[in-house]
Amino acid sequence: MAPVKPIPLKSEADTLALGARLAAVLRPGDTVRLSGGLGAGKTTLARGLIQSRLGAVEVPSPTYTLVQAYDWGEEELWHCDLYRLERPDDAYELGLIDAMGEAVVLLEWADRLGPLCPADALSVELDFEGDGRAALLSGWEGRDV
Ligand SMILES: Nc1ncnc2c1ncn2[C@@H]1O[C@H](COP(=O)(O)OP(=O)(O)OP(=O)(O)O)[C@@H](O)[C@H]1O
Ligand SMILES: [Mg+2]
Repeated sequence: MAPVKPIPLKSEADTLALGARLAAVLRPGDTVRLSGGLGAGKTTLARGLIQSRLGAVEVPSPTYTLVQAYDWGEEELWHCDLYRLERPDDAYELGLIDAMGEAVVLLEWADRLGPLCPADALSVELDFEGDGRAALLSGWEGRDV
């Protein structure tokens, strides 16, 4: 397979726009891992994705609530920040494990789920690049991103 080329994101507007592009190809039941260090732009991408469909709704970082749910057509969209999840099993109590496979689920800090993260999750890896960022997509083959 050809090596995947990172997508340059020179400004916050580019990160929001990539979120909007992904929103257009998401299917119910998709799980998306948003990875990258502190401040890499995970919440920004989620915001662009959500607002492209729902308009100017507030999209706060779910740092403390861990989960923020939105109406998303037939199903819901769950935006999760698992940084503060203490054990993978705590995701059951949040309802997250039941939601996965039905709702669209966006996960910041998905590694906190350990093996409970679906193996077929789509992935967006954000990296710092100069003053901006770059995104590496995997698992999106066959989708017209
Ligand atoms: N492509 C970009 N170029 C420059 N700045 C960006 C870009 N994308 C996002 N930012 C900025 O990076 C900062 C951090 O973004 P954000 O909160 O989305 O990161 P995060 O990965 O969710 O952080 P955390 O790990 O704390 O959850 C924000 O000020 C945002 O505007
Ligand atoms: Mg965040």
